[in-house]
This record gives sequence, C-alpha cells and structure tokens, in this order.
Amino acid sequence: MTAPLSIVILAAGAGTRMRSALPKVLHPVAGRPMLARVIDAAVALGPDDIHVIYGHGGERVRNALANADVHWVEQAQRLGTGHAVGQAMPDIDDRHRVLVLCGDTPLITTTTLQRLCEAAGDGAALLTAHPADPTGYGRILRDADGAVAGIVEEKDADAAQRAIGEVNTGVMCLPAGHLRGWLDRLTADNAQGEYYLTDVIALARADGVPVAGTATADDGEVLGVNSRAQLATVERLWQRREADRLMAAGVTLLDPARFDVRGELRCGQDVTIDVNCQFIGEVSLGNGTVIGPNCTITDSQIGEGVEIAANSVIEGAVIAGSAHVGPFARLRPGTVLARGAKVGNFVETKNAGVGEGAKINHLSYVGDAEVGADANIGAGTITCNYDGANKHRTVIGEDAFIGSNTALVAPVRIGRGATIGAGSVIRDDAPEDSLTLTGIPQKSVPGWRRPRRDDD
Ligand code: UD1
Ligand code: MG
Repeated sequence: MTAPLSIVILAAGAGTRMRSALPKVLHPVAGRPMLARVIDAAVALGPDDIHVIYGHGGERVRNALANADVHWVEQAQRLGTGHAVGQAMPDIDDRHRVLVLCGDTPLITTTTLQRLCEAAGDGAALLTAHPADPTGYGRILRDADGAVAGIVEEKDADAAQRAIGEVNTGVMCLPAGHLRGWLDRLTADNAQGEYYLTDVIALARADGVPVAGTATADDGEVLGVNSRAQLATVERLWQRREADRLMAAGVTLLDPARFDVRGELRCGQDVTIDVNCQFIGEVSLGNGTVIGPNCTITDSQIGEGVEIAANSVIEGAVIAGSAHVGPFARLRPGTVLARGAKVGNFVETKNAGVGEGAKINHLSYVGDAEVGADANIGAGTITCNYDGANKHRTVIGEDAFIGSNTALVAPVRIGRGATIGAGSVIRDDAPEDSLTLTGIPQKSVPGWRRPRRDDD
C-alpha cells in the first residue's frame, strides 16, 4: 500500500517582476487565481492534507482563497525553497509522502502529478523538463548509469553543467521521514545564500534512497509565471487546452485562438462558436446552438438550437430552445426566455420572463416584467419600472401587441390580446382584447411654418 499523501504548495514568493499591487499567485488564469488552479490540481489527487506556504501579501492571499480546504502556513522570512517546505513539516507525519508544488505553475495537471507520485513509490521522484531555453532553471545531474544524482542551480553551475538541457520543474515527491532529516541537513552555503530544496536530491542519493527523474509529457505544463508576459503565455496555453477539449467533444470553434473560457463551459453536440467570444462563470449550451462573434456570456443556461447573434452580452439568463437573441442584445440577470422567444437588436432585459414565441425585436427596455406567449413588443417600448425609490412590475398578457414607442409605467398590467397604440404612455391597466391609446388626438395646422433663423 502506498503511503498517505501530503501536498505542500510554495507560494511565498514576492513576484517582484509582475510589478503589481496584487500578490503574484492571485493573478488570474482563465478567471481564477493561479494558486487556486494549482490547489484544484492538488485536490483532485485526493491527498490527506494540503499545506500552502504563504508570505508576501499573506492575508490577502488567505482571504482571496478563504474557501480552499488547505492549511495555511506562514513563512515569515523567505530563506529559500528548502526552508519554505520545512515550515509545513511539523504538521506532516513521517509515514506520509510529500508532493511539492509551486503556486505559480498553474498549468500542471493532475495526470502528470499522479504519474510522478507513482514513479516515486516509497522513494523519491522529480519532475523534469527539456525547455527550449533552460536558462534560469536548476539542471539535473545524472550519473553514468543515467540515474538522477542531484540538481545544480544555474547560479551555482559551471559551464558544463549549464549546457545540460534537462531541468528541474520544482515539482517533486519525497518520503516525509527522510525529507525531515534532509531539510535539517541543508546549508545556505551557495551563490544565493538560501536553503535550497533542490539539495535534498543529492542527500537522498547519499542515503541510498532512489530518485526517479520523470520528464513531463508537455513542457508547457510546468511553465512558471514570473512576469505579465509569462502570464499571457500561460493564459493562451490554458485557453488552447480548453478549446481542444471542446473541439474533441464535437464543438466547432471558428478560431480556437480567439476564444476564452473563464470558468466552466459545457456544450452539447454541434455547437458552433464564432470568434472573440468570452464565457464566464458557469455556462451551458445545448445541441446545435450557434453563438455569433463577439459575444460575452456569463453564468447562463442556453438550450438547444438557440441562435445568439453577434455582439450580444448575456448574464444570469436562462434561454430555452430555438430562441433567438441579438445582434447587439443585452440580457441581464433574471432574464428567462421561453421556447422560440426573440430578443433583437438594442434590447435590454432584466428580471424578465419572455413567453413562448414572444418578440421584442428592436430598441426596448424590458425590466421586472412578464411578457406572455406570442406577445409582440414594438420598437422603442420601455417598461418604466423604477419610480426613483422602488422597482415595480409590468405584466403583459399573451398575444398582446404593444405599439412602438410605448412607455409602460409600472406597476401596470396589459390584458391578453390587448393592443396598445403607438406612442402611448400607459399608467393604468389596459383591458384584454381592446385597443388602448393615450396622447392628444392628431390634428393638422394648415400653413404652419417651421421656425427660421433670423439671418435666413
Ligand atoms: C526553483 C528551483 C529550480 C527550478 C525552478 C523551477 C530551488 C532552489 N530551485 O528555482 O531548481 O528549476 O524553481 O521553476 O528550489 N518560495 C517560497 N519561499 C522561499 C523561496 C521560494 O515560498 O523562501 C517559492 C516561490 O514563491 C516559488 C517557488 O518557491 O513559488 C520557487 O522559488 P523561486 O525563488 O522562484 O525559485 P527558482 O529560482 O525559480
Ligand atoms: Mg521561479
């Protein structure tokens, strides 16, 4: 039986090169703090416990991730990666294995970590990579038999060692009892005057504990974020991974390089997504739904065969099958469109139910309202839902026809089958199956002349 697993995530770094007031590990990747992404990958391994070593920006990091089921361990002084891991050791049982991760490598996958832990067995294992440019990384020293013998940091390496292409990713799995002893034996006698975690590898060898060197299947996975440029690189890699996953599941992306998911996007089959769309929070799209270009969709459920045309912004909406939205529509939270409903250009809805087959095709605001099935809301109709203090509801019956440029002053009810004449201001309930009009009767003034300017 393999030993229980403890995970230690190093996140005490200052992140100076980000030039940011926000602690580095809180910078988002795909809409979630990068440390949260690393914690996600760690949680998926089902460890006994997770320890996050924090320092710089301490309380902010803890507060931002207050819901994470982890032990927070403060490293008051940053004396090196070995010292950082040492801070968690008092809470870790000698019989455990310890998996060390970095809070700034958010692309690491659970699969890779699983492979590394398996390779470690009762001994140690180290995740290595072969980046195109190994500058800055610790280099892996192997003996004549190809076994891992140690790690030398770039700043301590000689020319021959710097020529080595295999590098330390910073991810390793070690037996806790041994690790405790090795950490106690570390010295800061090196170019940076730090207690290097990497030195435990040579100590493991000296103690006869085997160290497996496992290469990553994908060097992109271990990219660390130290600058905004690297943050952007990691963001694009994450998005590409999401795009590939969706395409493999039967989604057409017109350009996988112009597509962003910042949360969780679930798609049925034969969904088509045009360029420059963002999906934020939890979004689901039913079979055959088509999303036009430049749409932003947040926390919404969209059914089958729906068309969302270009430049629509949708948040907190539930849209049933065969509905049609946009172009240039804005659906705000609490919008519920029934089957086949239509919301067209320059229409804003909020907290509004739109019945089956109902149409709001142009230039309207419909808020705090209920629109019955097959009702037709003319261009420029506004629900006047706010009296300056409170919000009031508008209820429009089935099959009602609201003429263009109507103001519906809530609270107000329009009966089923009612017709409202264009340009009306409706302050009282309008009865069903009747025509209701407001405003002065039309009159003509013969010979009336338009105002002129004095100099004409
Ligand atoms: C480290 C490794 C190097 C490896 C590289 C991979 C060491 C000595 N070197 O170098 O072999 O190639 O990562 O990216 O381990 N941290 C703390 N407390 C500290 C020091 C660091 O929490 O006192 C955290 C940092 O926030 C960071 C991680 O540990 O998340 C790595 O530290 P960093 O200073 O970036 O080490 P590197 O020089 O990159
Ligand atoms: Mg680093």
